[in-house]
Amino acid sequence: MFETGIYVNRRNSLRSLISSGVVLFLGNTESPVNYAGNAYRFRQDSNFLYFFGLNLPQLAGVIDIEEGTDCIYGNDPDIEDIIWSGNLPSMEQLAAKAGISSVSPRRDLKIKLLSAIRKGRKIHFAPPYRGDSKIILSDLLGIRIAELGNYSSKALIKSIVQLRSEKEACEVEEIERACDTGYEMHTLAMRLCKPGIFEYQITGAMEGIAGAANGMTSFPSIQSQNSEILHNHSHNNILQAGKMMVTDAGAETCAGYASDFTRTIPVDGKFTSRQLDIYNTVLAANNLAQRISKPGKLYYDVHLAAAKTVAEGLKNIGLMKGNVDDAVQSGAHALFFPHGLGHMMGLDVHDMEDLGEKYVGYDDEIQRSTQFGTANLRLGRRLKKNFVLTVEPGIYFIPALIAKWKSEKINSSFINFQKVEEYIDFGGIRLEDNIIITDEGCRRLGKKRIPITKEEVEEEMSK
Ligand code: GLY
Ligand code: MN
Repeated sequence: MFETGIYVNRRNSLRSLISSGVVLFLGNTESPVNYAGNAYRFRQDSNFLYFFGLNLPQLAGVIDIEEGTDCIYGNDPDIEDIIWSGNLPSMEQLAAKAGISSVSPRRDLKIKLLSAIRKGRKIHFAPPYRGDSKIILSDLLGIRIAELGNYSSKALIKSIVQLRSEKEACEVEEIERACDTGYEMHTLAMRLCKPGIFEYQITGAMEGIAGAANGMTSFPSIQSQNSEILHNHSHNNILQAGKMMVTDAGAETCAGYASDFTRTIPVDGKFTSRQLDIYNTVLAANNLAQRISKPGKLYYDVHLAAAKTVAEGLKNIGLMKGNVDDAVQSGAHALFFPHGLGHMMGLDVHDMEDLGEKYVGYDDEIQRSTQFGTANLRLGRRLKKNFVLTVEPGIYFIPALIAKWKSEKINSSFINFQKVEEYIDFGGIRLEDNIIITDEGCRRLGKKRIPITKEEVEEEMSK
């Protein structure tokens, strides 16, 4: 947990943004794997963590705007809890860490909410994303589960986005810690990668590093020699010489902050010149995006600039043709780069995605594109100082997508399909770094950049 004042300040800031009503933050419950007593590793709700800091199940926090009070709802440990789990702090001790002196047993939460509802007061809550939380909220508020989303508070969503988007110094320190663990994860994967071993042998060893840093992975690792599959969570292949292995993985610190890096490396430790041509195009797009990201810049424009670098590189190789600006305008690059350049990152690896990307990544000024590829951009709005985000361009040869575009003649004036056929087994390349927006530009997070140039990658792989 951060020091108490951080949570007090955050709740006070929220109070200044919400004019009236009762704000309810439901902490997460334990989530069973195969029977109630065998739960997944506990992960607290990020909004609860942000405003109350307590990393334990079965808690709720209430901010009463008119009363000016904050209260934690939860039960003190009983003798059974102490027998199985050892001495546990009282609710009063826990709440004090978050700067809260008012605690109530969990059963009182419903009484508090019902009394507010009877008086016609607004109950602000964020859209629930877990089944358990939906059931609890439905019971507490008397709203049908299917309708909870409609009743979630837009004012609360916008206020949380406003506060959580600009990272505080203590948060940046945590994210840097997650990045340093990410560095260790990725460089280990580079050293272990060689023909003849199973992908899962690398995945298991790499994920152990996140645990050994007293945290866990920030999302299920993507690690595969089928590097053209954007989100591939199976790791069952034996690595083959000539293929490239993509590793998209990050760490989450014990305080809940994430990193998210991607590297793509030649399985046998040396890039071929064909691989390198594509690789250096992706690297150029990554570097360009970092050069031009700064306060006031639309990330949508940074995405399009990276897409132009991709299209230019592919044109030089003979895979695309025609005017690059026109090609990107008509979305032709998306045959090879069908996802967005990046997303916000913080307490969630896709930060605040539970609140809705239209509030996190877009705003009144800019809405999500409907064009194939660019429609997948999670962050398009103007960057501000202390935003933390990813930069992750890629180029992929996805056989089914190529076949579809070819047969339907999609963007055929910009694509050299005959040449593309020669790359059908190429796989894909994605290179992802994590940045923070500074006064005048941006800074890469983490003490060292994970090896990324040909020379750096080949050297790390040779160790
Ligand atoms: N690292 C996976 C993603 O950003 O979707
Ligand atoms: Mn990412």
